[in-house]
Amino acid sequence: MSVYYKNTERNIMLQAVIFDLDGVITDSARYHFEAWRDIASKLQISFDETYNEKLKGVSRLESLNLILDNGPGRDYFSKDEKEALCTEKNEIYKELIKQITPDDLLPGIGNLLTECKKAGLKIGLASVSKNAPFIVERLQVADYFDHIADAAKITRSKPFPDIFSDCVESFGLLPENCVGVEDAKVGIEAIHAAGMKAVGVGSPDQMADADLILSGTSELNLQKLRSLAD
Ligand code: BG6
Ligand code: MG
Repeated sequence: MSVYYKNTERNIMLQAVIFDLDGVITDSARYHFEAWRDIASKLQISFDETYNEKLKGVSRLESLNLILDNGPGRDYFSKDEKEALCTEKNEIYKELIKQITPDDLLPGIGNLLTECKKAGLKIGLASVSKNAPFIVERLQVADYFDHIADAAKITRSKPFPDIFSDCVESFGLLPENCVGVEDAKVGIEAIHAAGMKAVGVGSPDQMADADLILSGTSELNLQKLRSLAD
């Protein structure tokens, strides 16, 4: 009987799961990298996958600033020139993400979304990418999400909590009853700043601060998420 009560309590504790998109739902982080690599190469600034880790989860303009930090510095170009470089990157990126299909959901994500839905949990999307709605449509998973935060309305990017808090508030829930899933160091910080527990998908050094570290999305399941909210 006690086991029954414990399980019931657990079911009540976790009420929502809030996902990052790039690198969690699908591998679009790879396309961000490829597009920025083109821009960096044009500017003759060295840029590799290790440096790219710093760009994960940060806004388009801040990503450019980080690349410029590795070259002539973030103040080298005017505001308009930087805007043009961001637009150029986004055009390359938009071409790349046109090839996304439902087969590009990362391993285990389809099952997890179904499990969460069946369990009556709220599902949120907390991506600072303005391309997120297009990708979710390409993946054909839009219907799973009860709330997709509008990146255009979020002025403070991760590591600020705003985009995760926006999802929590839209559900009318307490952050302790929600769990966030991220692949970026700043994303883990944002989840914690929002008062939630964080699952980190990626290398243990990048994900060191997460409450649960998994090496890949195939290791994600509802039971693990529930145990975090206990
Ligand atoms: C985040 C990515 O999800 O979105 C970042 O991790 C990216 O790499 C940011 O810079 C903004 O995306 P977009 O598509 O609006 O340029
Ligand atoms: Mg990400």
